[in-house]
Amino acid sequence: MFISIAPMEGVFDFITREILTEVGGFDQCVTEFIRVTHQLIPDKVFLRYAPELLNEGKTTSGVPVFLQLLGGNPNLLAENAHKAYELGALGIDLNFGCPAKTVNRHDGGATLLKNPERLFNIISKIKSILPPEVPVTSKVRLGFEDKSLCKDIAQASCSGGATRLTVHARTKIEGYKPPAHWEYIAQMKDHVQIPVIANGDIWSPEDYLRCVEVSGCKDISLGRPAFARPDLAKEIRATQKPKGDKPTYSPMSAHQVLETLFLKFGKRSADFKDEKFAVNRSKQWARYLGRTYPGVLDLFQEIKRLKTLVEIQECTRKKIKSLKH
Ligand SMILES: Cc1cc2nc3c(=O)[nH]c(=O)nc-3n(C[C@H](O)[C@H](O)[C@H](O)COP(=O)(O)O)c2cc1C
Repeated sequence: MFISIAPMEGVFDFITREILTEVGGFDQCVTEFIRVTHQLIPDKVFLRYAPELLNEGKTTSGVPVFLQLLGGNPNLLAENAHKAYELGALGIDLNFGCPAKTVNRHDGGATLLKNPERLFNIISKIKSILPPEVPVTSKVRLGFEDKSLCKDIAQASCSGGATRLTVHARTKIEGYKPPAHWEYIAQMKDHVQIPVIANGDIWSPEDYLRCVEVSGCKDISLGRPAFARPDLAKEIRATQKPKGDKPTYSPMSAHQVLETLFLKFGKRSADFKDEKFAVNRSKQWARYLGRTYPGVLDLFQEIKRLKTLVEIQECTRKKIKSLKH
């Protein structure tokens, strides 16, 4: 089983990757997308997206971090991929799924899915410029408007030389609307010889088991669900114990999440950037956590108008006390 933390712009930054990989259960992370438009990206930008480059490309807990590039120009993407590699990136992931209008208008993200040959051109160009052992992975949706090209998309990634293919089981048009159509991942998987990673709406161990059944993939990538339930990867791993073995993992409670992760997250976010950032990120995380833990949803309501980190952390400590009793 392979579980990666899916890339999420504005959500899974360096601090979040640190915290989640400390919780454990993840094999790999991918940075937020870095847009490649018309130039070689300066070192400092790569380092801003991936401070892990200063730590041999890994989080402090030793989990490799791939850099995600987004763009439509094979030569420019290849030059930037090579630069990222020289800076220490352990692998390059390519974004062929972003649905944002501005991104698509500038020839990046999901718009490339309309013409799978473009995926082939981009991936093969990047592969040709990097040492063969450097992994280049492809992240796609099922298509742009419909799913008729899903097998071609998989095939183009595979023949281009992608090491792995992650499929978010929706089209661009479907956005993030449930359900995710895992059954199409099965078709794509049957069509290629590289590992395929299922992604989209795996919110619980039960979802995971259904996804394995429908998609045929044991390997997965978790985005929003990992933010809403930080130890989900560990819970999912616990489903794989041989029959008859007692479950060895008891999920974290709301107060444990707040006490051991959330307070640390606020403090580290402030140290990483500034207080305003930490305040916004704390509110954002509390809202996501509220999907799993009702007590944290209450906390979100209490902190959503607060202005300082001190107030938020004070409120959190009170909530921890009340949840413990
Ligand atoms: C706020 C947000 C930001 C995202 N940013 C990226 C990104 O930078 N690159 C990418 O490939 N996918 C991005 N995605 C898509 C996710 O990686 C993932 O494919 C999608 O959320 C479905 O998986 P999930 O149900 O596990 O969240 C983003 C999704 C969300 C909700």
